[in-house]
Amino acid sequence: MSDERTKAIIGDVVEALRGVLRKHEVTFAEYRAGFMHMAKTQEAGELPMLIDVFLNSTVVEIENATRTGSKAAIQGPYFVPDAPFVEGQLAIRDQDMDLPKMLMRGRVTDQSGAPVAGAVIDLWHSTPEGTYSGIPRHGDLDKKYYRGKIKTDADGKYECISILPVPYQIPNKGPTGMLLETYMGWHSWRPAHIHYWIHADGKRDLISQAYFEGGDYVDDDCCEGVGNEFIVPEAYENGMRLMEVDFVLDEASSPKPARVAEPAE
Ligand code: DHB
Ligand code: FE
Repeated sequence: MSDERTKAIIGDVVEALRGVLRKHEVTFAEYRAGFMHMAKTQEAGELPMLIDVFLNSTVVEIENATRTGSKAAIQGPYFVPDAPFVEGQLAIRDQDMDLPKMLMRGRVTDQSGAPVAGAVIDLWHSTPEGTYSGIPRHGDLDKKYYRGKIKTDADGKYECISILPVPYQIPNKGPTGMLLETYMGWHSWRPAHIHYWIHADGKRDLISQAYFEGGDYVDDDCCEGVGNEFIVPEAYENGMRLMEVDFVLDEASSPKPARVAEPAE
């Protein structure tokens, strides 16, 4: 049984790739080296990461065309579904207690401006080493650190303190890094950022990120994930970097065009 949508998309992918082969008069040796590199990338467990680096931002761009509230940003590979609920502060390791802090706060509303109370916001960000907790390849730091769920209050407001994240370097020792850095002359850095996943009953989930105005790589993200609307102006409160970010949620029922619908049975 064929699925019409899969058939159409894969047909176009193959046609687009054939166009690239023809345009560059790719030789058999180059073609073979190309797919062997993909095999090596898969063997290193990096295939999802490689594909995300090149294409995740485009899928987000397509999704955003159907949003009228806040725009979504890339999710990245380090969301952990069962992070703990926290009150006002993410867990900070003892050794990091004296590092600069940030205050994340803002308000979640619907499109009429009404507060969305009880929205669950998953927050996650890097350690001071530029890794993520709860990720075996990142040293398996307990997932309670630098990630957690908070809830908006009756006024739709949220507030949470943590330490500042740092720029994150996607692993550059394996086949992905070799492709990006050695063969393509790219760097493999993302600017420091905070991840958000906002869930509220009756609303469309929103996955977002926030970046720090003036931060390294904000203008030069290897994942092309930074949009101006996600850059938070530099401000401080009580000695903490203030990351004030409001979110406007679309209704869950907001129309989605056929191109983002589930494939037909
Ligand atoms: C990657 C890592 C991130 O922290 C992120 O936000 C996006 C992508 C990555 O390793 O590909
Ligand atoms: Fe990230």
